[in-house]
Order: sequence, then structure tokens, then C-alpha cells
Amino acid sequence: MREMRDIKKEWDDAAESWAKFVRKGKDYHRDELNNPAIFELIGDVKGKQVLDLACGEGYNTRILAAKGAKVTGVDFSEKMIDLAKHEEARMNQGINYYVMDASNLEKFSGNCFDLVTCFMSLQDMKNYRKAISEVSRVLRNQGRFVFSIPHPCFETITVNGKKISAREKYCNTVKYPIEWNMERLERHFKTSSFHRTLTDYFEALFKNKLSVLRLVEPKPTRRGLQIHPSFRRHLNRPESIVIESVKSIEALPT
Ligand SMILES: C[S@@+](CC[C@H](N)C(=O)[O-])C[C@H]1O[C@@H](n2cnc3c(N)ncnc32)[C@H](O)[C@@H]1O
Repeated sequence: MREMRDIKKEWDDAAESWAKFVRKGKDYHRDELNNPAIFELIGDVKGKQVLDLACGEGYNTRILAAKGAKVTGVDFSEKMIDLAKHEEARMNQGINYYVMDASNLEKFSGNCFDLVTCFMSLQDMKNYRKAISEVSRVLRNQGRFVFSIPHPCFETITVNGKKISAREKYCNTVKYPIEWNMERLERHFKTSSFHRTLTDYFEALFKNKLSVLRLVEPKPTRRGLQIHPSFRRHLNRPESIVIESVKSIEALPT
């Protein structure tokens, strides 16, 4: 409980600086690497009921709404949701935002969303299994759950001040701090994440009747490569992975 509170506080403390970073176009990993790939995979959302899980200050939530989806955004950080609501009051896109932990979506009845998205956040959730089971509950049969996470096979994490590459410790589940200390951030902050294996995520999906359809390892856009030549490294080594799954209430092979 205390750990959850601490993680939530980290995001509350980060919210303002995070919002400025994202809204001022400084999150180029999002704009030129991850978003083009994930939105292509998501495809047409016009008229669909979409839940954006762990929506943060709502940047991608607003993209979904601009594409014609009827969107609900939830996040456990009150500060993030305040910022998102503030933007909604300005833009009037019809997005509903709620402060909610991803592992308890009881405000929503079962089978009510066509699509649940979760952009670069599942790795930040301590109780990711419960979150995935809630996603499955609120999805309609044949509804999709599309999420992105840092690629667990290629990430380098810092544990007790020591940098460890996934090659050394891939199979260990470990909580680790992320120091957001890039110059382009107005104020630096720290959050916590969990390194898990792909098997961990796939098992949780399978147990909750979510069958994996496709996965994508995003490549930088041409524009991204021009503006940020260092993105070349992601032509050989993906930074993130996007997984698309579908809820199927048919019995799965055991
Ligand atoms: C890296 S940010 C991504 C935010 C947003 N998805 C985006 O793409 O801008 C991670 C978000 O996950 C949220 N988060 C982490 N754990 C959560 C939980 N258990 N329930 C709900 N939100 C959570 C944080 O508050 C934060 O807004």
C-alpha cells in the first residue's frame, strides 16, 4: 500500500514538468518513434468507445478523440488528471477523465469498451496482473487491448546505482528508479518502473482471455532520423514494443 502511495506521489510531483515536456513537442521519442507505430496498429477508432488507461495529462487521449473515438481517460495521479481536465475544458473534445487506479476500474461495468489503450505505462504498475484482468473485464468480446512498454529485451536499468543491461538480468523481475534528467525537461524528476519479461506480460494476457494478435517494434520515422540522427540506433535495436491483443471469450487451447 505504502509503495503504491509512493509511486503515485512520484507521478503527482512529476505532472507539471511532464505536461510541459509532452505538450511542447519535446518528447520526440513519442512523436517520431512510438506514436506513428502504435496509431497505425490501432487503426480507425471513429465512433468506438475507448478507454485510455494511465492516460497521464492526456496527450494521446486527445489524439484518440481527434480521430473520432468516444474517449475516457483514467490515471491514478490526481495532478495528471487535473491537467488533462484543464485541457479538456479548453478544447471541448468530449473526453471524460477519472482518477482511478488501473487495478480497480469498478466504476465501469463489464463489456463496455471496444478498445483499451495503455501507452508506455504498464511497466510502471506494480499490480500489472490485476490491471490486465480489469482491462479484460471492461472490454467487449472481440474488443482489443493495445499497449506499449519499453522493450524488456533491450532496456538498461539502474539498480542500486549500477547500470544493468537486460542481457545480464532479463529473467529477473525488478523495480528500478528512472531519473528523468534530460536537459529538455523544465524540472527533473524521478519515477519508478518494473522490469518484467515478455513471458510475464503474455501469461497475464492469456489468463485473462486476451489473445495476442500482432506486435510491433517501432522504427523511427524519416523525419525523426533527420532531426535526431542518434535515432539510427533504433533501426537495429528497438526501444519499445507494442502489443495488440483481443478479448476472446471462446475457450482457448490449454
Ligand atoms: C510514462 S507516463 C505515460 C502517460 C500517458 N500514457 C502518455 O502516454 O502520455 C505513465 C503514467 O502511468 C500512470 N500510472 C502509473 N501507475 C498507475 C496505476 N497503477 N494506475 C493508473 N495510472 C498509473 C502515471 O500516473 C503516469 O501518468
